[in-house]
Amino acid sequence: MDKLYEEEHPDIVVNFAAESHVDRSIEDPELFLRTNILGTATLLDACRKYGIKRYHQVSTDEVYGDLPLDRPDLFFTETTPLHTSSPYSSSKASADLLVLAYHRTYGLPVTISRCSNNYGPYHFPEKLIPLMIANALADKPLPVYGEGKNVRDWLYVEDHCKAIDLIIRKGTVGEVYNVGGHNEKQNIEIVRLICKELGKPESLITYVTDRKGHDLRYAIDPTKIHNELGWLPETKFDDGIRKTIKWYLENRKWWETIISGEYQNYYEKMYGNR
Ligand code: DAU
Repeated sequence: MDKLYEEEHPDIVVNFAAESHVDRSIEDPELFLRTNILGTATLLDACRKYGIKRYHQVSTDEVYGDLPLDRPDLFFTETTPLHTSSPYSSSKASADLLVLAYHRTYGLPVTISRCSNNYGPYHFPEKLIPLMIANALADKPLPVYGEGKNVRDWLYVEDHCKAIDLIIRKGTVGEVYNVGGHNEKQNIEIVRLICKELGKPESLITYVTDRKGHDLRYAIDPTKIHNELGWLPETKFDDGIRKTIKWYLENRKWWETIISGEYQNYYEKMYGNR
């Protein structure tokens, strides 16, 4: 980091980097602590040492824990207490606390965004949507955890990027902004939609053992970023998911290279006896 900061003199640092997959964090928590907490501390220290105009932390709605399935009236706001479920979300919440502490203690100019589930191009094949697309194209089973009733609040990745850009340029230092587009779907709805779009039979759907500690529902209240910065999502889910499927059809080489390598060991370990 010293070398990088000395060569590049960054004025704005955005920490997009993380170990991001909940299932992997359940297998190997320590890796997540090192990357997500110590990695953030390393960046924050470099920012203190070299000085920056803004440090932005890309966080997640998972720091708030989950919401019950039978209370659709409840949403995460920026003041919802942190209440994490997995080693992944705990490591992200820890990083957020460090970021806020560096603001209070050292006056570092920070902002944090907490976004709901992203989807779109270059989504790593371990995640729900690309995994289901890749498996469906290969006529392989589509492994749905539990009963498939868990709810996620999906946002097209470019809308997330636009929110981050806006926060960096117009957001208030020291503040947290929730990012989400009121687009809640049960996992099973997503998997059925992928089958339909690809012309594959729903008989590929296979219910498998649930994720340990599986969060039931995430739902973001984006009022603050809307009112203060004028952000609204632009891509409707129906358009976004079609664009995403098209991208995976046109960019097979990218993801086929990934899933043919060491990823096969991961897949076997996670899904082999599930
Ligand atoms: O909410 C934001 C978070 O969204 C990010 O902070 C995380 O980095 C990102 O990985 C994502 O977390 P999820 O655990 O919600 O995403 P994932 O794609 O792993 O799973 C989405 C839902 O689908 C979840 O309820 C688990 C379920 N699922 C997932 C996989 C991979 C399945 O039913 N089968 C699967 O094979």
